[in-house]
Amino acid sequence: MNIIKLNAIDSTNSYLKELAQKSAVETFTVIVANHQNLGRGQLGTTWVSDDGKNLTFSVLINLCNFKIQDQFYLSMAVSLGLISALRRFISVSLKIKWPNDILAEKDKIAGILIENILRGASINYSIVGIGLNVNQEIFPSDIENVSSLKSISGVVFNKDELLLEILNSIKKYVRFIENGAFEDLKKMYLAELYKINIPTMFEDNKGVIFLGKIITVDVNGRLVVELENETTRKFDLKEIKFASR
Ligand code: BTN
Repeated sequence: MNIIKLNAIDSTNSYLKELAQKSAVETFTVIVANHQNLGRGQLGTTWVSDDGKNLTFSVLINLCNFKIQDQFYLSMAVSLGLISALRRFISVSLKIKWPNDILAEKDKIAGILIENILRGASINYSIVGIGLNVNQEIFPSDIENVSSLKSISGVVFNKDELLLEILNSIKKYVRFIENGAFEDLKKMYLAELYKINIPTMFEDNKGVIFLGKIITVDVNGRLVVELENETTRKFDLKEIKFASR
């Protein structure tokens, strides 16, 4: 594994993407930064993290003949790898909030941003960016339901040790993709999914609040929700959120 440590850059995802455009970059090359000036989150959000306290890193993953339509399996593998590594460090209840946030109890401790670089109908390589709140205890007041490993456990964590454990664990779950074991991945992912099979209040992109139950995800990674009248509706990322608690 090739781990490149940097002090301050814009975004580890952007840096790794540019590096891979300029030169051949081996699979599982990792860029880890102490500080990002422009950390990026899902749906065009920013990812803020106190200098040096947390893990902000990106991994290039190059899978042979990986089809665009299978891209959600990488999201499953990465979130499963992350959650299972974290379980070796903390003992609170951890869940994956669709599509790939990691929750400790009800608070987000990690986010994942995957960017796929295409070649024809296949994914040439993926840039997997992970932000994990490790030793930060005070968060901006406008960010709700957020926590960190230190806030949960009171323990200061060694970030290098965590990083290695996470990378090895992600490798283990990526092997399921390499072996074509997509259904096994999906089964494991659904078993970790926050609120699966539990009646829950959601809000759609028109602001309508409704009761539903997550029953699965479809091949495109859309969330499949069963409504009160027993019909199902599928949602993309920007189309649904949990109604505020
Ligand atoms: C999310 O919105 O939950 C995804 C957050 C992903 C943040 C990480 S931090 C390292 C990598 N570089 C980025 O610019 N973003 C990802």
